[in-house]
Amino acid sequence: MKYLRFPVAAIAAIVSLVAFSAPAPGHADGAPAPFVTEIPNGYRNWQWVSSAHEAGNLNSLGAVLGNDIAIKAYREQKLPFPDGSIIAALHYRYVPSDENNKVFGKVQSFVPGAPTNIQFMVKDSTKFAATGGWGFGHFQDGKPADANFMKPCFPCHQKAKDTDLVFTRYAP
Ligand code: HEC
Repeated sequence: MKYLRFPVAAIAAIVSLVAFSAPAPGHADGAPAPFVTEIPNGYRNWQWVSSAHEAGNLNSLGAVLGNDIAIKAYREQKLPFPDGSIIAALHYRYVPSDENNKVFGKVQSFVPGAPTNIQFMVKDSTKFAATGGWGFGHFQDGKPADANFMKPCFPCHQKAKDTDLVFTRYAP
């Protein structure tokens, strides 16, 4: 059995090392990963990245904006986005504009209606390490969603892992 002693000790050492070095806030104890609970300041003044219309049940018109750090990374096509990048998605109902349609003489104009929600992705590779370095935020009437609501954000955004979890492309 002598030959076993070293490997056993080595394995024990490795196991304890791993146990001690596993940081895992929001992982080890099964607590929810941290997410964004405060609306970032000044987001409405940020620059436009692109827009998207979701049909179906969402029936939404969205504008994606980026703060200066995010816009710079987009323009320089730098991935991953650096810490401090914030991307906002402003969502509205997608509604016909009676006013515009009267001018055109037919129903062809659709515009943002009532706001529905605002979503954010905040890059902080330390604070949000458990969710790919991005903190996700969802606000309705200015109030943050709860931890349960935030669970699907990261898993779905992982599908965009080739572009640092960000789906929206920069519209020139
Ligand atoms: C089922 C997949 C899915 C889920 C779940 C999801 N997203 Fe997204 N998200 C997308 C897609 C696809 C886009 C791009 C299309 C669009 O803007 O409508 C997007 C766009 C975004 C954007 C703009 C930046 C980007 O990646 O394009 C933000 C910010 C965002 N989502 C935040 C969130 C938050 C916060 C949650 C959780 C409350 C969430 N998402 C849940 C698929 C998802």
